[in-house]
Amino acid sequence: MTFFGRFLRQLVFSGLGLFGFTAGLAQTTIVINADLGKDTISRHIYGHFSEHLGRCIYGGYYVGEGNTLVPHTRGIRNDVVQALRKLKIPNLRWPGGCFADTYHWKDGIGPKEKRPTIVNTWWGGVTEDNSFGTHEFLDLCEQLGAEPYISGNVGSGTVQELADWVQYVNFGGVGPMAALRTSHGREKPWDVRYWGIGNETWGCGGNMTAEYYANVYRLYATFVSSSWGNSRIFRVASGAGGGDYRWTEVLMRDIPHGLLEGVALHHYACNWEKKGSATKFTEAEYFDTMKRAWHMEDLVRNHTNVMDRYDPKKKIALVVDEWGGWYDVEPGTNPGFLFQQNTMRDGVLAGMTLNIFNARCDRVRMANLAQTVNVLQAVVLTDEKSMIVTPTYHVMEMYTPHHDAVLLPVTFASPEYTYGGESVPALSVSASRDKNGTMHVSLVNVDVRSGRDVVIDVRGRKLSSVQGRILTSSKVQDHNTFEDPERVKPVDYKEAKLEGSTVKARLPAGSVVVLSLK
Ligand code: AHR
Repeated sequence: MTFFGRFLRQLVFSGLGLFGFTAGLAQTTIVINADLGKDTISRHIYGHFSEHLGRCIYGGYYVGEGNTLVPHTRGIRNDVVQALRKLKIPNLRWPGGCFADTYHWKDGIGPKEKRPTIVNTWWGGVTEDNSFGTHEFLDLCEQLGAEPYISGNVGSGTVQELADWVQYVNFGGVGPMAALRTSHGREKPWDVRYWGIGNETWGCGGNMTAEYYANVYRLYATFVSSSWGNSRIFRVASGAGGGDYRWTEVLMRDIPHGLLEGVALHHYACNWEKKGSATKFTEAEYFDTMKRAWHMEDLVRNHTNVMDRYDPKKKIALVVDEWGGWYDVEPGTNPGFLFQQNTMRDGVLAGMTLNIFNARCDRVRMANLAQTVNVLQAVVLTDEKSMIVTPTYHVMEMYTPHHDAVLLPVTFASPEYTYGGESVPALSVSASRDKNGTMHVSLVNVDVRSGRDVVIDVRGRKLSSVQGRILTSSKVQDHNTFEDPERVKPVDYKEAKLEGSTVKARLPAGSVVVLSLK
């Protein structure tokens, strides 16, 4: 590339010319069949994950009942709960992650002064006082209006221990665990439906083979049952890391389907050799992140294909219970705490990933962004007294109309975003119809160099109005800070023009737009 070429690319990438280079680009026609659609986008695709890791639980959600600096309810920060309620979080996965397979739940119940401490060996080697345990987590879920998703300890626990936990939280009759719960001030059971049977059992959860784990799963799942409560229990098997299709194959083959409601999948858009800064990244690094994020589409398709062979009626869900971007920790912070900033890059990553899940909602019926507060691709960052929300938060909030809406068929040929001789799709689109008949279309322009013109051709219904919001920023590295908390935030989008049954719009480089069509 010539010096001028490099200069021009740099100029554009640095944001100075982000919107000025669209002339001459062909427009993309997106056809949406508004009168079709049969599958529902489960709201549980929009779930979150919160581990005992760094400042996610302690300091993030939980400041303790004695805290006088920040308003809280029974030790849980009001500002965080208030912000998260706007996301309508459907479910929250806890306590890990790798931590889950070291966690013994009985250490975290009863009078706090009597609870034993635990050393968090996976994350920073810090000592925790167990002041945030089962009651506090379920209180948090109630405050959020989210369903709990408890990840059980298989790696270092016992079947009895996990069965007791199920009984403790779900059993309303007369029994030892129900009596213990009542003695700790909670008479009514919580009725927890979602249970993970171990986490990453091929790695931090026990380094098992697929065949060995399938047998272990059968054992545990037998005792994690609906017989302790009213809920239909939903058990999730610890799933593949990325493209380990054999793992999924063995679980689907060896576990009786009557014991299995979901199979997990974990995928981070991360360059494990060189993660790079969360905020100071080049276009090469941005492109690399997008490539890895797009890989989710292959993973979901291929794991689905494996599952389809054993479960053609799609009774068992694919549960992507860890996903997101993973970069270097912020300079000067504890490397074991995984605290990273969150830029417009992460907003784009979230938008396209959620569109991928929507498109596959017949099989992907649950997913969990890692992790909600102060860890990895967080939606909320806190310091001692204040809280800010990230670009990823805004995308999650903008996408709430997709929750439990009917997925509509979308057809288009995406233009390409090319970098260094490689290319990925530049556009990601998803459409749904909510229960009032309003259509929502989420459009992501992954390309940070070029804006894109689109024509949305809506078939099967008449349109009378279009409204929208956009999340973008002059530079894809832009992010919110405690000093500048609203640098990246959604604004009304005025570029969508309704012409008969079509909507014309221009998507700026590196943007997420959600349109509401009536
Ligand atoms: O989310 C951080 C860690 O990533 C989780 O603890 C683990 O499950 C995964 O490897």
